[in-house]
Amino acid sequence: MNPEHAWFTHDRFGMFVHWGLYALPARHEWVMNRERIHTEDYEKYFDYFEADLYDPRAWAKAAKEAGMKYVVLTTKHHEGFAMWDSALTDYKVTKTPHGKDVVAAYVEALREADLKVGFYHSLIDWHHPDYTVDPVHPRRDDENAAALNEGRDMNKYRDYLHGQVRELLSNYGTIDYIFFDFSFPGRSANGLEGKGKDDWNSPELINLVRELQPNIIVNDRLDIPGDLVTPEQYQPSGPMLKDGQPVIWEACQTLNGSWGYDRDNSDYKSVELLIKMLVDGVSKDGNLLLNVGPTGRGNFDPRAIESLAGIGEWTKLHGRSIYGAGASEFTAPADTRFTANGNRLYLHLFSWPMRHVHIAGLAGKIAYAQLLNDASEVRYSEADPSQTAQNTTPGGQPAGTVTLDLPIQPPDVAVPVVEIFLK
Ligand code: GLC
Repeated sequence: MNPEHAWFTHDRFGMFVHWGLYALPARHEWVMNRERIHTEDYEKYFDYFEADLYDPRAWAKAAKEAGMKYVVLTTKHHEGFAMWDSALTDYKVTKTPHGKDVVAAYVEALREADLKVGFYHSLIDWHHPDYTVDPVHPRRDDENAAALNEGRDMNKYRDYLHGQVRELLSNYGTIDYIFFDFSFPGRSANGLEGKGKDDWNSPELINLVRELQPNIIVNDRLDIPGDLVTPEQYQPSGPMLKDGQPVIWEACQTLNGSWGYDRDNSDYKSVELLIKMLVDGVSKDGNLLLNVGPTGRGNFDPRAIESLAGIGEWTKLHGRSIYGAGASEFTAPADTRFTANGNRLYLHLFSWPMRHVHIAGLAGKIAYAQLLNDASEVRYSEADPSQTAQNTTPGGQPAGTVTLDLPIQPPDVAVPVVEIFLK
């Protein structure tokens, strides 16, 4: 790993922000694709993009209070609309009623709040006239879909893509992370071909990115290797490997299944589940990039604010079990996760047990233990394996096992944590 990237595996928790014209139809960021909306019809949203409540300082405050250390904003999503004052197009926010450079204000607010700055940038562009129709394009099912590509020149689109990336990585200072999205080389349908590294000229693009921002982290969606892998909307079942070697990874997740603001979607995950996803990821050496889709006014909707605040209540008390932590060598008992940082081991209890937790392999290794939320002592014992169960005396546990003794009442936190100090 590039030592300049160490912040990423230390900080573990970031905010993803999907914002663009799709916030106005408020029916998922893929609305143009899902409803097969033609460009000229979709452009009506451009005329109504006022975003009068856009306040990136409020975004930064919400992220920081949730315990997030970096943010990644969609500079352009598949709809092709630029959230900055690009010199290469008029399909940009500075030409809408909003009239201001969203990216510039976002970067400034993050720097003020001491948050790392990330850009999401779509390789796909359903607005650019030279971007060819393909199997995920809104016009893919048109009868004459393939014929629509006559006169479209992907060379021109590539120049545009590289030109806009150059703008973003030249005009806003140090950018810490770029999240390209996405390549689909294997897909074909209706005589239309998928797109991959040749369509984007990925080797040249990644060289450009590294030339302009030598310490930047680049994701894995250019159809060539990046600095990390980015599982999406699922939790990996263990540390992620490539060719048998562990790789840096970050799971990107939504609050309710949609990245863009989706007004009628109430499938919000509970705060407890969101915290368990964060813990689960860190216990497998991974990060969590948790998404918010601001409304068409530019603010976070109450359900998102509530989720972030709930997570913040937990990270305020339990942050050290996440930041700078990672997988442990010890095997966590059922319904728990271990994160470790130096000689501190954190047992995250996903369900509260009846008094005892038996942990294999820790006998003789523990110096002290406490509940992390209030530093109250947790007592433990090493039962003799040959002990016979009798009345209130439990039978012995396998050699090497330590048994923690917990109160009947769990602490009033979403996920209780026992902090174990190893000798
Ligand atoms: C997927 C979605 C896209 C979203 C991205 C985030 O590619 O299609 O809309 O921006 O994931 O990781």
